[in-house]
Amino acid sequence: MKAYSEAAERNKQPIVEILQKVFANCSKVLEIGSGTGQHAVFFASVLNHLEWQPTERLANLRDLRERCDTCLAVNLSEPLALDIDDELWPISTVDAVFTANTLHIISWSQVCRLFAKVGSVLPNGGVFCAYGPFNIDGNFTSDSNAHFDAYLRARDAESGIRDLEALTKQAETHHLFLQSNHVLPAYNRILVWHKIVP
Ligand SMILES: C[S@@+](CC[C@H](N)C(=O)[O-])C[C@H]1O[C@@H](n2cnc3c(N)ncnc32)[C@H](O)[C@@H]1O
Repeated sequence: MKAYSEAAERNKQPIVEILQKVFANCSKVLEIGSGTGQHAVFFASVLNHLEWQPTERLANLRDLRERCDTCLAVNLSEPLALDIDDELWPISTVDAVFTANTLHIISWSQVCRLFAKVGSVLPNGGVFCAYGPFNIDGNFTSDSNAHFDAYLRARDAESGIRDLEALTKQAETHHLFLQSNHVLPAYNRILVWHKIVP
């Protein structure tokens, strides 16, 4: 049986409605932490002007491959192994990066590394989109997010919902500037950064 996420099934439509706009002028998207592949399969089929490159840590790659193998969209690339901690990322040219529900799972040092890598793989004008729960001005945006954060930190002290301001500051050190902040259902957001090199 394929790995399945109820949440991914619920949030894929609201997410793709934003991606249609923010990736309108992009051609190749690198997805980090593709999980079950439900997003990759759906986004590739709807956003058919894009080449979609799903990736996962080696330990979870089989599940991702299993789902992607059933997808008929020709613009969905073969999933690749990619760990944020890898020195070399297995991609050549992309003009967009997408990640969903990863920034609160990985450690803060991995978040910093992710921004550094995204800043280096994107060309000038490239777009980075991150979906998930985020804090604003250091505050949770709902009680459910506060409970979720407590759950995450009890499970792994290095994880937890990130502050938008801390992310923005980190991003700017790699020429990534926040362009938009979209409120989505269930107190989630899509944050969009553009790489702008003066
Ligand atoms: C909560 S799941 C989200 C999966 C999918 N993006 C979604 O929204 O349904 C977090 C994902 O991050 C991946 N992940 C965790 N640490 C990672 C790392 N160091 N490098 C790459 N991916 C990582 C996990 O394997 C997992 O698939």
